[in-house]
Amino acid sequence: SGAKGLLGMASILAAALAIGIGILIGKSVVNVKTISDTIQWDFDAGIQDLILNEIKASNIKENLRLLTVLPHEAGSHQDEVVLTNLIKETWETHLDKVEVYPYNVLLSYPSISDPNYIELVFPNGSVALKTNYTEVPLDQNEKKPKVLPSFLAHTPNGTASGDLYYVNYGRVEDFEELLKLNVNVSGSICMARYGRIFRGEKVKNAELYNCTGIVIFTDPFDYGGMAKHSWSPEKSSIGYPNTWWLPPSGFQRGSVQMLGDPLTPGYPSLNLTYRINESKAKLPKIQAQPISYEQAYEYMAILGGQDAPEKWQGGLNITYKIGGSFKALHKNCKVRIHVGNYKVQKKVHNVIGYIKGWQDPDKYVLLGNHRDAWAFGGLDPSSGTAVVMEVARAMGVVVKQGKWKPRRTIVFCNWAAEEPGLIGSTEWTEQLEKRLLLRAVSYVNIDIAVQGNATMRAGSTPTLHNLLYNSTKSVQNPNEEEKKKNRPTVYDTWLHKNPNDHNLPFIRNLGSGSDYTTFLQRCGVASVDLRYTFDEHIPSYPVYHSLHDTFKYMENFIDPEFKYSKAIGQVAADVMLKLSSLSVLPLNPIDYAAKLRYMFKSLETTNGKLLAANGIQLTDLNSAIWEFGKAAQNLNNVAQSLTLASSESSIRIVNDQLFQIDRGFLDFNGLPGRLWRHVIFAPSSHNAYRASGFPGVTDAIYNVLNNSGSWEDVKQQLSVLTLKILSATDLMIA
Ligand SMILES: *[C@@H]1O[C@H](CO)[C@@H](O)[C@H](O)[C@H]1NC(C)=O
Ligand SMILES: *[C@@H]1O[C@H](CO)[C@@H](O)[C@H](O)[C@H]1NC(C)=O
Ligand SMILES: *[C@@H]1O[C@H](CO)[C@@H](O)[C@H](O)[C@H]1NC(C)=O
Ligand SMILES: *[C@@H]1O[C@H](CO)[C@@H](O)[C@H](O)[C@H]1NC(C)=O
Ligand SMILES: *[C@@H]1O[C@H](CO)[C@@H](O)[C@H](O)[C@H]1NC(C)=O
Ligand SMILES: *[C@@H]1O[C@H](CO)[C@@H](O)[C@H](O)[C@H]1NC(C)=O
Ligand SMILES: *[C@@H]1O[C@H](CO)[C@@H](O)[C@H](O)[C@H]1NC(C)=O
Ligand SMILES: *[C@@H]1O[C@H](CO)[C@@H](O)[C@H](O)[C@H]1NC(C)=O
Ligand SMILES: *[C@@H]1O[C@H](CO)[C@@H](O)[C@H](O)[C@H]1NC(C)=O
Ligand SMILES: *[C@@H]1O[C@H](CO)[C@@H](O)[C@H](O)[C@H]1NC(C)=O
Ligand SMILES: *[C@@H]1O[C@H](CO)[C@@H](O)[C@H](O)[C@H]1NC(C)=O
Ligand SMILES: [Zn+2]
Repeated sequence: SGAKGLLGMASILAAALAIGIGILIGKSVVNVKTISDTIQWDFDAGIQDLILNEIKASNIKENLRLLTVLPHEAGSHQDEVVLTNLIKETWETHLDKVEVYPYNVLLSYPSISDPNYIELVFPNGSVALKTNYTEVPLDQNEKKPKVLPSFLAHTPNGTASGDLYYVNYGRVEDFEELLKLNVNVSGSICMARYGRIFRGEKVKNAELYNCTGIVIFTDPFDYGGMAKHSWSPEKSSIGYPNTWWLPPSGFQRGSVQMLGDPLTPGYPSLNLTYRINESKAKLPKIQAQPISYEQAYEYMAILGGQDAPEKWQGGLNITYKIGGSFKALHKNCKVRIHVGNYKVQKKVHNVIGYIKGWQDPDKYVLLGNHRDAWAFGGLDPSSGTAVVMEVARAMGVVVKQGKWKPRRTIVFCNWAAEEPGLIGSTEWTEQLEKRLLLRAVSYVNIDIAVQGNATMRAGSTPTLHNLLYNSTKSVQNPNEEEKKKNRPTVYDTWLHKNPNDHNLPFIRNLGSGSDYTTFLQRCGVASVDLRYTFDEHIPSYPVYHSLHDTFKYMENFIDPEFKYSKAIGQVAADVMLKLSSLSVLPLNPIDYAAKLRYMFKSLETTNGKLLAANGIQLTDLNSAIWEFGKAAQNLNNVAQSLTLASSESSIRIVNDQLFQIDRGFLDFNGLPGRLWRHVIFAPSSHNAYRASGFPGVTDAIYNVLNNSGSWEDVKQQLSVLTLKILSATDLMIA
């Protein structure tokens, strides 16, 4: 391994001589720097062991217990005062410095005095069914007050009524399928099930197809552990607290937008900041409301019209119909959806803690997680907060012991108001944008730390893939059965469960869905998202965003010994240790080149002929990617050739080039109609949870195919993409 090996050898000797510890052969990279009369460790296997061993499952468990005593939604006293102070004070004891960043942002809540409901109404006005909006508490703890009732944040108040149509997952292709069946949902209410795409897109699609409202339910096939056609009300005992599945009365709250404070797009929500008129905010205009499957059953069981396609059938023991009318007695009934949500500006707080770097204090290596939860936040997000707090403590302890200091500044971020739309992290990156653009090395995100015990999963930008593989190889497998099967590390199970075409663990591209979004999409910061997960084919863990996502759920069903939580903490700590401490950044530019070539091939295979038929060639793009590959190879060679004798300035030059690669891909004019700037990865326009590759180009092609754009737009986007790949190439030149 070239230069790093050399650095390692030389410095192991130096270290052994200097402080007389044993030589750690075969372990990782080492580099020792002498500053005045003390020896500063850049990175060393001994330090790695110290930090990883300092991470304790019992501490994570205790953190989680403290974090989940009460519901703590964004803007609440519990989240903005109690937990904000808990984290601030804890970090003040472990870290060098702590800052609180407040923002005044537009939040959204369900009204208690004007509750949300769904009704089935006879033509004479009498009400046949009424769905209310609270969940049934299933244990003592869940009876605690102030859990928000059912609602979708940032959907408008008002009442809509009409016929009811079942629209499967509410994707564009589902609405298109209905048009093929000659069903026009215009002016009606639609009923979609959760899953497959971000809920905000379901609402957007319903609006696009002119529905006046949308009801979203959790189908027991997707969340209840039920086979198709098997649940009916007499089976009401299935699910939590007996199993990890969603009980019939549970439902999923959530937001329908992920763009930060809706009133300050592109700018931080400071007091001096101009707020746009709420009517101009990018928010839905139709009523939307989530319900449980117990409640959905009542409507679905009496829905009329033709049978829904086989693929649209779900876990309720009925034949799912398309709707448009109801059966028998209810034939002429209409559905009414009433939403009493209100919006209010509130102060929310990010807590930011620092361990100052000794050599490059102006370079930031960030680790973040959000604090706010829809209810108690057992998994989402407090499992992550508990882990990040323990990583901060472990690193802080080793620094305080005088055994290690990072070369670069480590920044721990505790984000506010993620659930209502990634608000805390968005406002912060908007405020610190210029600093982050110039000096942020990387961002590691942990939202839910653990939602199952099957395997780690990760998303990341390509330069970080190799580091993730290395770090997961350094962490013991938390699963004893896996160890017995000769899979001793987190890496081994990850590879076993989820190999890619090159027999490496699969790492997804990042779109949106958590707080890495603005780091990557706005500031071009190399990013990672980590969690331990299940291997069932379900959209999320069953009680996601429900009342039942509690400490007890974690303890009973997910990670009773907190050993998977500990493993995630250790992976994150190892990644942070290496990024903050190795003199030459462990970022691999060659993997980016490989990714671009792969994406090019996929574009060419899917659309090459079509593009050629319309006079559009991919040759410039191809040669730009080739140029990028050459520069990446060259930069990697230079990085590898650095030795212990290399000057600080030559190390800095290489590092600046390594961490800035994603900056090159930013187009400051933004992708068409969007705030996002990264031309290689963006949240898909049709499912923000997913990433789309070459988003400007693929969206433009999609639009032409759907008669809402032209080949000229495609040409323009292709040239932007090519130019930005050349910009990224240009940044790799000293
Ligand atoms: C309204 O119509 C329904 C169905 O026909 C009937 O059951 C109900 O009694 C009627 N209510 C009133 C107040 O007339
Ligand atoms: C919800 O419905 C249940 C049973 O139908 C009822 O007991 C309860 O009072 C209702 N709650 C609200 C808030 O309307
Ligand atoms: C929505 O709520 C606002 C106050 O919060 C109220 O003024 C308005 O009338 C409500 N609109 C509807 C359609 O209920
Ligand atoms: C659906 O119906 C509305 C009016 O009810 C009409 O404006 C619209 O064009 C129709 N859409 C399609 C695709 O037929
Ligand atoms: C929705 O309504 C608009 C405006 O009336 C109309 O142009 C459009 O065709 C409608 N869309 C569908 C899918 O019916
Ligand atoms: C579904 O309902 C039918 C009657 O409609 C019943 O015969 C069948 O046993 C039910 N299936 C399950 C899995 O409960
Ligand atoms: C911003 O305005 C709010 C409400 O007026 C006030 O409470 C807060 O102190 C102000 N913040 C700053 C930093 O001035
Ligand atoms: C905001 O927009 C609404 C709707 O267009 C309008 O009625 C209102 O006057 C606007 N408010 C301001 C302060 O401009
Ligand atoms: C993993 O979780 C499942 C489901 O809760 C449980 O049955 C299994 O025993 C767990 N495995 C290990 C090794 O913890
Ligand atoms: C990963 O480890 C290998 C083997 O030690 C080393 O050659 C490589 O440089 C490491 N990669 C990164 C990104 O740290
Ligand atoms: C857009 O075009 C694609 C490809 O032809 C098609 O699958 C999709 O259904 C279309 N969507 C709309 C909204 O027309
Ligand atoms: Zn979350």
